[in-house]
Amino acid sequence: MKRDLISLKDLSYKDMEDIFLLTKEIKKNKHRFSSALRGKILGLIFEKPSCRTRVSFEVSMFELGGYSIYLGPQEINLGIRESIKDVAQTLSRYLHGIVIRTFAHGNVIEMAKYASIPVINGLSDFSHPCQVLSDLYTIKEKFKKLKGIKLTYVGDGNNNVCHSLLYACPKVGINLRIACPSKYAPDSNVVKEAERLADSQGSIIELFNCPFEAVKDADIIYTDVWTSMGKESERDIRRKIFRNFQVNKNLLSYNKKNCLIMHCLPAHRGEEITDEIIDSKNSIVFDQAENRLYIHKAILIRLLK
Ligand code: CP
Ligand code: NVA
Repeated sequence: MKRDLISLKDLSYKDMEDIFLLTKEIKKNKHRFSSALRGKILGLIFEKPSCRTRVSFEVSMFELGGYSIYLGPQEINLGIRESIKDVAQTLSRYLHGIVIRTFAHGNVIEMAKYASIPVINGLSDFSHPCQVLSDLYTIKEKFKKLKGIKLTYVGDGNNNVCHSLLYACPKVGINLRIACPSKYAPDSNVVKEAERLADSQGSIIELFNCPFEAVKDADIIYTDVWTSMGKESERDIRRKIFRNFQVNKNLLSYNKKNCLIMHCLPAHRGEEITDEIIDSKNSIVFDQAENRLYIHKAILIRLLK
């Protein structure tokens, strides 16, 4: 049966560990995998812009001996020119896998339902699983472990990256704090699931409305844009509401450790994070970005081979 990557909710601890092991092998020895996906073709259906996700998936296919076809918003025009159901069935006759970046998470689920080939979520409004797999791998590289690490996410709690962190962190034993304005709290069902997972793993999930309290003991402070793609009309109001949630020198002065700084990128410099902090020596944002390449190779090998 074909396998998809739609949400980290569907991955077990063992699945993630297996992906990290393969990622490590790939990163260590690029040439060993240079024909792992020979003859395979990946389609990238992107309804939103992308730098990292598109380029790292395309480079992955090239370096694994396969090929990729980018289909931007004008080409497929999902649901307008043609139904997702028909696109899924048609592309399944040509391709070996699909990466989809879209708005409604339901589009990813529908694509996977009707495609007979693996479907990978390259970001929806609700979740960004590939990003967070790369983030956890990066944390593991830095700390040599995941269990017991304290990560504080500061900013928009109701976005794709935060939801994926909530699904993944408790499974690997990371203690996760989320500091966000009360109106921008994560989806309550995701929080419930994260708390259930945390209970069974002995990890902790905590929500805060005050960022200063939340960052105190953090080993890592993670932030993301206040205005995600698709929400541009709310940018002015969000700038006001999130004002106190900027990752800056003042916020870091409340942290008792020499914490690392993470951001999925792209960053809105001067909004959620200052230049000084994102460019500081403790910032690992480009390690996160680099690891997208190796994580994507591992995902593609697992699903397409
Ligand atoms: N982090 C991330 O997904 O970047 P892009 O939007 O540039 O793909
Ligand atoms: N939350 C951001 C992530 C970008 C990779 C967005 O959806 O725009």
